[in-house]
Amino acid sequence: MSESGIAEYELVEKAAAYIAERTGRRADLALILGSGLGAWADTISDAVAVPYDEIPGFHMSSVAGHAGRLVLGRAGTVDVVAMQGRVHAYEGVSAAQVVRPLRTMWKLGAGTAIVTNASGGLDPQLAPGSLVLIRDHINLSGNTPLTGPNDERFGARFPDMTHTWTPELRAVARRAAARINVAVHEGVYAGVAGPSYETPAEVQMLRRAGGDLVGMSTVLEAIAASHLRMRLLGISCVTNHAAGIVDEALNHEDVQRVAAEARGNFQRLIDAIIEELGTT
Ligand code: HPA
Repeated sequence: MSESGIAEYELVEKAAAYIAERTGRRADLALILGSGLGAWADTISDAVAVPYDEIPGFHMSSVAGHAGRLVLGRAGTVDVVAMQGRVHAYEGVSAAQVVRPLRTMWKLGAGTAIVTNASGGLDPQLAPGSLVLIRDHINLSGNTPLTGPNDERFGARFPDMTHTWTPELRAVARRAAARINVAVHEGVYAGVAGPSYETPAEVQMLRRAGGDLVGMSTVLEAIAASHLRMRLLGISCVTNHAAGIVDEALNHEDVQRVAAEARGNFQRLIDAIIEELGTT
């Protein structure tokens, strides 16, 4: 049950119906564009944008670098719906509210999602500006969108997470990256609650636990995507070495600046991936 006492599924249906009615669009591919990465949505053709605060049940992000609108249109030959910015659990919303937009995009027809974020590099080899395909994740957020009675209309009570991050989509992304000559790495994303950055001791722990990247988003969306049986690709832009790896204090302005600097490669990679998807 949602905060309003209405089943979450009905809220998702209502949001999707509002968007479909207002824009006349549906979508095959959903994109969630994270911190500093939202500009790609401005390249969508034949685009209609809807601000989150006009969509029933959606929440505005209060975080700088998250525009807060949904953009529907076409990228190449593919019908897309993109989130320019997302809301995070640390902003004070529930896990179900965090994933409501993803579920809404699924309801609009999207069977595949590309989820992006800014992250800190736990692997010292990951220099700021690196683009990393998410191979797997560790959910350390203490949260999940699947708490409460299961609604079979979304998915099964105990969803399998073995292939949450779809191997075939990573292969597509690697092929696209090679074609346009953009370097991509692969790694495990450790999802934490935030909003404080990690301590150096936490960074050491996350590294030993098997993480290559750390960030404050994405894992709740990945769990919801698995539940929905969506195909999922994750692209992380490493904006900084995680705390204590180099002796520098972290701040959100630097995160946004580095994400913006990586924008050219990031956007070309998204375009190339969509091109491959459109032809496969
Ligand atoms: N930690 C957590 N989240 C982040 C970081 C980080 O170092 N950089 C960008 N998002």
